[in-house]
Amino acid sequence: MERVTIFDTTLRDGEQAAGGTLNIQEKLDIARQLEKLGVDVIEAGFPINGPSDFEAVRLIAKEIRTPVICGLARAHPDDIDRAWEAIKDAARPRLHVFLSASDVHLVHQLRKTRDEILQMSREMVARAKQYVTDVEFSPMDASRAEPEYIYQILEAVIEAGATTVNIPDTVGYAVPVEFGQLIKGIFDNVPNIDKAVVSVHCHNDLGMAVANSLEAVRCGARQVECTINGIGERAGNASLEEIVMAIATRKDCFNLTTSVDTPQIYRTSRLVSELTGFTVQPNKAIVGDNAFRHQSGIHQDGIIKMPITYEIMDPKTVGIPSSSLVMGKLSGRHAFRERLVELGYNLVETDTNRIFVAFKELADKKKEVTDKDIESLVAQELRTVSESYHLDRLQVSCGDRGIPTAAVRLIGPDGQAMADAALGTGPVDAVYQAINRLVKVPNKLTEFSVKSVTEGIDAIGEVLIRIESDGQTYTGRGADTDIIVASGKAYINALNRLMATRRQETE
Ligand code: KIV
Ligand code: ZN
Repeated sequence: MERVTIFDTTLRDGEQAAGGTLNIQEKLDIARQLEKLGVDVIEAGFPINGPSDFEAVRLIAKEIRTPVICGLARAHPDDIDRAWEAIKDAARPRLHVFLSASDVHLVHQLRKTRDEILQMSREMVARAKQYVTDVEFSPMDASRAEPEYIYQILEAVIEAGATTVNIPDTVGYAVPVEFGQLIKGIFDNVPNIDKAVVSVHCHNDLGMAVANSLEAVRCGARQVECTINGIGERAGNASLEEIVMAIATRKDCFNLTTSVDTPQIYRTSRLVSELTGFTVQPNKAIVGDNAFRHQSGIHQDGIIKMPITYEIMDPKTVGIPSSSLVMGKLSGRHAFRERLVELGYNLVETDTNRIFVAFKELADKKKEVTDKDIESLVAQELRTVSESYHLDRLQVSCGDRGIPTAAVRLIGPDGQAMADAALGTGPVDAVYQAINRLVKVPNKLTEFSVKSVTEGIDAIGEVLIRIESDGQTYTGRGADTDIIVASGKAYINALNRLMATRRQETE
C-alpha cells in the first residue's frame, strides 16, 4: 500500500498557538515522543525567531535520529542560513522555505509583484539546495491565490531543486471540494510535478482542516502537515491523530497507510496537552475523554454484545488504557511499576520511586487510585524535577469573616528555605501574594481554572494558570487533593517556566 508522509509541526505551527510557549527541555521531550510515535518529519521550529528557538531546533537535530528534522525559513538568505546552522547535525535534515503567493498578501503585506515573488522563490530554493538535498517550498496562502500562478511557482521551485511542494490553506478558507480541485489542478498543470512530493498544510478556521487534508490526499497529495491535538495558530492545524486514524480506519476509502505507531497516540496527546497547557476538549475525536465513552443505554447494550455495534475503532489501537484496574493503599511497588509501563511510561528508577511515594500519599487520602490519578501524579512529579523554586509548605486561613491569609515556605535555587506571609482577596490570591514576596518576578495572572481528575469528593484537583510577563505568556499546572495547594504548585510551576525561559534566552 502507498504511504502518506506524516509531517508533524506541533513544535513549530503548534507552538505558535497563543499561550502555548514551550521551553527547550519541553520541546525535546515532545520530539522524543514524536519519534516514538513514528512520524516521518518533525518540523522542530523557526530558528531565525530567536536564540531559544534556534537552540531547541539544534538540540533536536542532534539527538533525534529517525525522523527527518525540518527547520523553517522565510525566503530570505539570513533565514535560510540560520535554519541550516540549526539543523545541520541532523541525520536527515530538511529546509522548509516559504513565501506568500496570494495577491492579498503581495499587495497589502509584501508590496511586491508576482514576478518578484517568483524570482525570490526560485533563488531562495536554490540557496537552500546548496546546503541540503531535501528542500520543501510553501507558497503561503496558496488556497486564496490564483491557481495558474501557483502552478508557475511550483514549476519554478521544483526546477530550482525543491523535493516537496507544500500547499498551505494558511487562513483556513478552503472547502474540501475546491481544495481537492486545486491539488488535481497541480498534478494536471505543473509539468515537472513528478519530481516532487505534493504536501498540504491546512488550518482549521472553518473547522475543515482535516476534511481538506484528507480530500487533498484522495486527490494525490502524499504528505500531510499536522499537529498533535490540532493545536496551532488561531483555530489550529489539522489534527494528526484524526488524519492518521481516518487513513487507518477507512482503508477502503483511501487505500493508503502511514508510519505512525497508533498506540502511541494517546500518550503523545497527553504529553502535548500537559506541556502546552491546552486541555483537550472532552468530545475531541480520537483523544477526547468522551471519544470512547458510551452514555446511552442502547449503545451500552450494543457495546457489551459486540463492540463493533457502536465503536468504529478499538480504543487500544490509539493507546487508551484498556483496564479499569483500580489501585489502592495495599498496592505494592511492583504492581505500581507495571501499571506505569502499561500506561506507556518509560521512567527511570529514581522517578518511579518518587512517584511511588506520591502514590502512597495519595492512596492514604483516596480509597481508589485510578489510571487518571496516576497520570496526574506522574505529570505533577515530573514537573517538579527541573524546578528552581519548590513549594515546600503552604497554609491558609480563610472564610467569610476573616481576611484571607497565607503563609508559604519555598526552597530556593540554592537549596535554602525561605518563608513569608501575605493577605489577599481570597485564599489563592493570598498564596500568590506570599509567593510574590519571595520570588520577585513581576507578572500578571491572566487565566485560572480548576478541574477534578476523577469524580468523587476525594478527587485530585488540577489547576491550570497562565501568567504574562514582558509580553510573553507562561503556563503553569499543579495537582493535589487540596486545590489551594494545587494552585500554589501551579503558580510555582509557571514562575519556574518563566525563569527557565529567561535563563535560556540570556545563555
Ligand atoms: O500556514 C502556513 O501557511 C504556514 C506556512 C509557513 C507553511 O504555516
Ligand atoms: Zn500554518
